[in-house]
Amino acid sequence: MVKETNHVGPSPEEIDQVSTPPVPGVDGPGRTVLVCVAWPYANGHLHLGHIAGSLLPPDIFARFQRMQGNRVLMVSGSDCHGTPIMLTAEKEGKAPSEVVDHYNAEHIKAIRDFGIAFDIFTKTTTENHERNVQDIFTTLLDQGYLEKRTTEAPYDPGAGRFLPDRYVEGTCPHCGYTDARGDQCDDCGKTLDAHELIDPHPKGAPDGRIEFRPTEHFFFLLSRFQKRLEEYVADKQPHWRPNTKNFTNNWLKEGLQDRPITRDLTWGVPIPLDGFEDKRLYVWFEAVCGYYTSAIEWAERVGKPDAWRTWWESPETESVYFLGKDNIPFHTIIWPSILMGFSDGREARGEKRLVLPYDVPANEFLNLDGKQFSKSRGIGIWVPDVLGRFDPDVVRYYLSVNMPENRDANWTWEDFVAKVNDELVDSFGNLVHRALTFTEKNFGAVPEPGTLGPDEERLVARIRDVHAEVTDDLAHSRFKKALRTIMGLASEGNRYFAASEPWRLVKEDKERAATVLHTSMFLVRSLCLMLAPYIPFATHRLWKYLGEEGAVHATAWVAALEPPTVGMKLSVPEVLFRKLDLKEILQPEAPESSAPQKKKEKPKMPTAETTNNEVTIDEFAKLDLRIATVKSVEDHPDADRLYVIKLDVGDLGERQVCAGLKKFYAPDEMVGKKVAFIANLKPAVLRGVESQGMILAGDSGDAVAFLTPEKELPAGAKIR
Ligand code: MF3
Ligand code: ZN
Repeated sequence: MVKETNHVGPSPEEIDQVSTPPVPGVDGPGRTVLVCVAWPYANGHLHLGHIAGSLLPPDIFARFQRMQGNRVLMVSGSDCHGTPIMLTAEKEGKAPSEVVDHYNAEHIKAIRDFGIAFDIFTKTTTENHERNVQDIFTTLLDQGYLEKRTTEAPYDPGAGRFLPDRYVEGTCPHCGYTDARGDQCDDCGKTLDAHELIDPHPKGAPDGRIEFRPTEHFFFLLSRFQKRLEEYVADKQPHWRPNTKNFTNNWLKEGLQDRPITRDLTWGVPIPLDGFEDKRLYVWFEAVCGYYTSAIEWAERVGKPDAWRTWWESPETESVYFLGKDNIPFHTIIWPSILMGFSDGREARGEKRLVLPYDVPANEFLNLDGKQFSKSRGIGIWVPDVLGRFDPDVVRYYLSVNMPENRDANWTWEDFVAKVNDELVDSFGNLVHRALTFTEKNFGAVPEPGTLGPDEERLVARIRDVHAEVTDDLAHSRFKKALRTIMGLASEGNRYFAASEPWRLVKEDKERAATVLHTSMFLVRSLCLMLAPYIPFATHRLWKYLGEEGAVHATAWVAALEPPTVGMKLSVPEVLFRKLDLKEILQPEAPESSAPQKKKEKPKMPTAETTNNEVTIDEFAKLDLRIATVKSVEDHPDADRLYVIKLDVGDLGERQVCAGLKKFYAPDEMVGKKVAFIANLKPAVLRGVESQGMILAGDSGDAVAFLTPEKELPAGAKIR
């Protein structure tokens, strides 16, 4: 765990201020920009791949667009249906609704804490979503774009049920990947039908048998949209990224196939027709509709029920979709076709057409030391853990300079530490700190400049050039390049500051010193504004040190070209970022929630909390404390100081915890012992291993001992 001194994280109030977008002005000037973000499945923690791939880019984009004075609406939510959710629920022995509500709440928190500012982040289980999706379905049906057909679907005769999508696995006919699923191949990204799989079998049962049995489903007649899509895509292509173009053109070249959009399932959006009670809409059909249904929900929530039309019904709207490359065809083929068909029906009933995607900047994948981050395979860096260890801005920074825009990128801890320390701390942070502290100390405020010399002229010209270049890059979702350009300017600023030697000038030529410091503050202010979309928390703080009014995010983007106001009162800044220490990062210590180990506590001042720290009997009763038997103790595969301990907790079954007990116990000393265990602690993932509870221990500083019942008690016995 990173030492406390290394973590300059935002306070809860700061998270509030930075993560809440201003309510967009519906009638104001500026373009209308709809920012659509792929809906993460609500069946696991978010990982850094989600942030880098689809959540951070739209936040940078939306912040930039808002600063430009455009009317921005940024929407997304939890993708709650489909077999990925059902499989998780089955594994966890929970109802699907319980799983999705849990992860929806967790995702909302993680997104806020990362400073990602949605206008709405909802979920696909709402009544609003269901009603509007069913309207789309019925409209498409009325327009003749849906057709009932009998198909052969995979059926598990043993279990007596159909096996939709991810319940079937087999070998991909396109690339030979052996773990392809009934709906998609994770390796080559092609969408599939279970019929196409080689050696199809029920998930998790490679030797299991599958039959194909007839069942009735609705097909979306995608083939009917071939021509219109070709025209639409040809029209859009110039500014689409190569991966987006390629995926889409390949689909079009192969010829569009009609696709079933219902499934033999009971979890999902119901089909609004009699006789289809035990079927549901296919998750991909209804999830993409969420971009539209969530805008309607947002308008309801802000008390202007028609406001969504500003974005969806105006042909001028730029709608930009951010997603990972595996999602491309759903957004460039399927969703535009649904929109075209639905718009035909809307037009027929006297309503406006809906706007088609303008750009679909899809990202490649972020790999963790080469392996793809993946929730389903348990490889990843989980967002709740990352946020407990690092300032969100340093993570945002690294993910931005290392964004998988045009090719896969790798996350390595070495590179993370190097980029943060060399660029964010040494280059930008250092410039800010030196310029601001020195100016404040000698002038207290922004000084009046004298005549600019050639170095100042050059730097001011560079600010203009960089601003123009970055503006163009951000408008076209080239986030990595824009950031490199901004950071290049920060380095130039550092060199300028050092070469101008203001510490000498204050003694020898005060007017010249004032000119240099005024120019330096100009640069710092411009950098603050241009970096605001990337590192919102630090720039929010810096903006205040610069004495500026209002929020940096509510400031006009062009203000970066204006010099600071002479006489503006400056504050001594606190450090914006602290250096990271690779050794500390790589040496894991169990977070407090998962192991009874010593913590170096700062002495606490008595506060209301520490002087009145009673708990009520009801609060205490919330803890599910149990006797558990230690079944096995193994080394954690990826953390030197941790054991992975398996426990028998009687009626609660088997649990696994990660605990930092190595210094105190050998595995043999623990196996077979009875211990006190808290069973309802929120699970945490420690370096890739889930810890489902905590063993209690007494801790006197150097001696640590777990607690054993004084008489024989069965595993699972309650402690109260
Ligand atoms: N849940 C999907 C995934 O994680 C993405 C859905 S995007 C949507 O791959 F627009 F369809 F919701
Ligand atoms: Zn494949």
